[in-house]
Amino acid sequence: MMNKVGPIGVFDSGYGGLTVLQEFMRVLPDYDYLYLGDNARAPYGNRSFEVVHEFTLEAVNYLKNQGCRLVILACNTSSAKALRTLQQIDLAHADSDFRVLGVIRPSTETIGSLSKTNSIGILGTPGTIQSESYKIELERFSSKTAVFQHACPMWVPLIESKQHQTDLGKKIIEKDIEVLLSKDGSMDTILLACTHYPLILDQIQDIVGPSIQVISQGPIVADKLKDYLSEKSIYENTAFKKGHLFFFNN
Ligand code: DGL
Repeated sequence: MMNKVGPIGVFDSGYGGLTVLQEFMRVLPDYDYLYLGDNARAPYGNRSFEVVHEFTLEAVNYLKNQGCRLVILACNTSSAKALRTLQQIDLAHADSDFRVLGVIRPSTETIGSLSKTNSIGILGTPGTIQSESYKIELERFSSKTAVFQHACPMWVPLIESKQHQTDLGKKIIEKDIEVLLSKDGSMDTILLACTHYPLILDQIQDIVGPSIQVISQGPIVADKLKDYLSEKSIYENTAFKKGHLFFFNN
């Protein structure tokens, strides 16, 4: 029989989602968390919709079978490519107290207000950028904000293999940032729309300089999760609260 009480599930293709998990633990330290990183099959960023959907569904089912009643896709690529199908089709008949949430909606509800010039840059994987999810959602929540995007296909492989500080790694990262900045001279805010990128936030901030704020979405998503949990009293009874942390990486 399905376990009705469990940790909050947190999923990413690799270890980038830890940048989100650490903020959950800061803002909501009492909950138990189960982190699943699909390292063996990362990166997801260059994969098709079908494959990202299949892998994400497997991960969500794994976490559900471990007793999680709430799963956060701490992966923009999965949020962009798989979340809607999961919510509307795959889990349409799941128990009503089982939920899967992503990171794009909470980020776009907030970031529009962070730019003084109403010009925001988005850096993400090809999958996230091509989905146009950030543009579409920002249009809903902050229609006055101009959005400029750039896909960085090499960043997750560089970060996962710890090569972002090599000469080649630095050149690739600098070039991608240069391309984004060339799209609009008034850009004052860049959102790191991939949960791996905050791992190199200092490197990115050094390249763009102090006049542009580089935003990691972990704190934003954690604050939104806190609001969500305070509104959904159901998780008071279905999410373990002992402050335990579990990891599963393949
Ligand atoms: N951390 C994932 C994201 O936020 C990386 C995706 C990948 O594996 O390429 O998109």
